[in-house]
Amino acid sequence: MTLLQPDDAMSKTIFILNGPNLNLLGTREPDIYGAETLADIETASHARALELGIVIEFRQTNLEGDLVNWIQEARSKADALILNAGAYTHTSIAILDALRAFDKPVIEVHLSNIFRREDYRKHSYVSEAATGIISGFGSHGYMLGIDAAAKLIARN
Ligand code: DQA
Repeated sequence: MTLLQPDDAMSKTIFILNGPNLNLLGTREPDIYGAETLADIETASHARALELGIVIEFRQTNLEGDLVNWIQEARSKADALILNAGAYTHTSIAILDALRAFDKPVIEVHLSNIFRREDYRKHSYVSEAATGIISGFGSHGYMLGIDAAAKLIARN
């Protein structure tokens, strides 16, 4: 089977956006978040995307406003969004509002299972605008997210 190449004019783009402290992956609480770095996850994401013929734009920021700006940018540049908003997941109505203005698939990803952790992590504003949630599979969750986004894009 011939796969679409990422430079194909028709190829689809997924923004993968990462929030605060995810730049510290690999050294930050590895018992919870694993030993892989964000760079490792980015490399694996590009490899999976290449297999699927999809283009990935992978970013991280510690700033809430950056996430809002990038979600707004995704309105015209992305076909789907994968978002690990870190702790802003549990606090940010601004990110929720930006997501509500993005009318394409949104996959919420967390490395840890937020529902078996502290009570303050059990509520997610992101979930209110997400197509689906992947939580608790470590870095593999990003691969699951890419596969889910690719399926949703193919449907549209
Ligand atoms: C996280 C879970 C959040 O509660 C936490 O604040 C993070 C990472 C995860 O990937 O498991 O920074 O989003």
